[in-house]
Amino acid sequence: MQRRDFVKLCAASAAAAVPEAGATNLTARTYRKAKLVDERGSPLRATAILAGVTYVFDYPFAATPCFLLRLAKPAAGGVDLRTEAGDAYRWNGGIGPDKTVVAYSAICAHKMTYPTKQVSFIGYRDGPSPVAGPGKVITCCSDRSVYDPAAGARVVAGPAPQPLATILLEHDAKADEIWAVGTFGGEMFAEFFKKYEFRLQLEMGGRARGEVDRTAVVKELKNYSAQWAQC
Ligand code: FES
Repeated sequence: MQRRDFVKLCAASAAAAVPEAGATNLTARTYRKAKLVDERGSPLRATAILAGVTYVFDYPFAATPCFLLRLAKPAAGGVDLRTEAGDAYRWNGGIGPDKTVVAYSAICAHKMTYPTKQVSFIGYRDGPSPVAGPGKVITCCSDRSVYDPAAGARVVAGPAPQPLATILLEHDAKADEIWAVGTFGGEMFAEFFKKYEFRLQLEMGGRARGEVDRTAVVKELKNYSAQWAQC
C-alpha cells in the first residue's frame, strides 16, 4: 500500500463515530488495489460514469460483486453508521471531481442476495416504484430492504440489520482514474462464501475466493446479470 493510501484510510478510521457499549470503532480494511476499467480494459473515467445507471464490478474477491454509482448530487459524507454488532463508523462521502461517485458491496445485508450471472434482485432505482418510494435508492426485492447510497447505504426500510459495506475508492484527479482499495463497515464475505460455497464452487471453482488484483472490470448491471428483477 502506498503512503497516501495509508494516510487516507487512517483518516477514514479516525472519523469513526461513537460505538455502542461493548462494541468498537471500526477501522477500514485494505485489500489489493485495483484500477476500475471498462469492458474493453480502458480506465474508467469518473466523468464517464452516468448518473442513474447501476454499474457492477467484482471486488475484493472474484466472486463478490459491488455497485458503482454516480449520484445526482455531491455526497459530502460525515454520516455516522453502525454495523449489526453496534460497531460505529463514519461514511466519508463520494469521490471524483464533484464527489458523486460511490461504491458499495452488492451483497444484501439481510440474507445476502447478490447479483448473479443469471439474475439480480438487487440494484439501484433512480425512479419511483412501490418499494423504492420516490427512488434514488438501492432496493433488494428478496425481502424489500432499501438502502440510501447518498448516505453510506444506510438502511431506510426493510429487514436489513446494517448498511451495505462501503467499498473504499480513490480518485487520481490528474489521470481521472478510479481505484478500489478496501472496505469500510460490515463486510459479509466470510458468511457469503460459507452460504454459497457449493454454488460458487460449481460456477467458478477455486477462483471464487481469489483476490481481485490490478484491475476490476466495471459493467452495467444489465450486462452483468441476464435478468434484473425490479420492485
Ligand atoms: S436478502 Fe435482501 S432484503 Fe432479504
